[in-house]
Amino acid sequence: MHHHTPPPHPEPVTLPVNRTEGCPFDPPAELARLREERPLTRLRYPDGHMGWLATGHSVVREILADRRFSSRQELLHSPIMDLGELPPAMVGDLTGIDAPEHTRYRRLLIGSFTVRRMRALTERVEQITTEHLDAMEREGPTADLVEAYARPVPALMICELLGVPYADRELFQDHAATLLTQSADEQERDTALTALHEYLRNLVLAKHTEPTDDLLSDLTAADLTDEELTGIGSLLLVAGLDTTANMIAHGTFALLSNPDQLAALRADPDLADQAVEELMRYLTIADPGVRAALEDVELDGQLIRAGECVTLSLQAANRDPSRFPDPDTLDLRRKATGHLGFGHGIHQCLGQQLARVEMRVAIPALLARFPSLRLAVAPEDVPMRAATNIYGVERLPVTWAPVTWD
Ligand code: HEM
Repeated sequence: MHHHTPPPHPEPVTLPVNRTEGCPFDPPAELARLREERPLTRLRYPDGHMGWLATGHSVVREILADRRFSSRQELLHSPIMDLGELPPAMVGDLTGIDAPEHTRYRRLLIGSFTVRRMRALTERVEQITTEHLDAMEREGPTADLVEAYARPVPALMICELLGVPYADRELFQDHAATLLTQSADEQERDTALTALHEYLRNLVLAKHTEPTDDLLSDLTAADLTDEELTGIGSLLLVAGLDTTANMIAHGTFALLSNPDQLAALRADPDLADQAVEELMRYLTIADPGVRAALEDVELDGQLIRAGECVTLSLQAANRDPSRFPDPDTLDLRRKATGHLGFGHGIHQCLGQQLARVEMRVAIPALLARFPSLRLAVAPEDVPMRAATNIYGVERLPVTWAPVTWD
């Protein structure tokens, strides 16, 4: 690696967020320019806060692992919109708290994501994907992959894991979507969160009287108040719904747009595990992270002052050429481990094993069922989800040659 003197300190930038210009798989071009110039640079936040933006893989990873940087929600500023002063995280929301409170929740939850339960879930993912592929085939030869496959499979899985009735999905899917929409204002967020919590609170009470074989029932036996359990349940439901759905749909879009990679995966199903990691790196759908410095920290030759926020661009880090050669190429054979698509450090995604099981089953099963799968519209006409923290496609119209029986 060669080092060069960074240019004189530039004017503070604002966070480039538009991923829909140009290639639908690439980060905003501005991020690459910033990363090249200085992997840690000054950022002007929409509420006027002057903080930092980290775009280099090593500096992002370092900050995520450094206890001097806090996730406490009341210390954070949004890099995307002016949300005013943020309140402390809701009880049970482990994304917005630090150790040791965080550690306590995390331990309780890890104990519930048991090997037995994950193994049982693998079989269920296989059954659920088969059922949905059968339905697609019956109703085809065209479908919106999002509605027919990418959304229902993870939704059913998270409902079964938690013990939430899938029939109630209309009640919580809209609220979950509102919480992930960047343009939702404080009141909309409040309303959605209150409704979601009320739904989960009733469910938690029901699990007390009539426990079933699921995570929420297990957790009623743990040392948690009903309020804590309600908060944890709401978080898991929101975190597990849209994320995996977007990876399945957007991942399929990326494969259909890279025919050589699609062919490689079709030819060698053993490539699936690696393919999933590479798609996670290449697409980095959940972005960005934010942390606040608890004390003055010197990093990368610069001084981050106590109280200043650092925005961690996971998508820029995952396209850093010093970590991943030829980063803008989707290459299923590369070793993409070390990507930051699930975050890093104490808050690294709790559901990553479940998400991996879902993606490793759902994507190859789809390709195997429809050998002639292709887009039903021009790539530039695929509608993208612009204003949300979870990037991906709004819809993915696909088609295939129907099987003829003679
Ligand atoms: C945390 C991404 C699926 C539950 C995170 C973080 C990322 C992420 C980047 C770190 C956030 C931060 O540090 O600020 C993803 C992606 C997924 C996925 C891309 C799908 C491919 C899931 C699923 C679940 C889940 C299926 C639920 C079962 C969580 C929870 C946290 C988290 C509870 C917070 C952990 C903590 O703060 O200790 N996820 N996730 N995620 N994820 Fe996921």
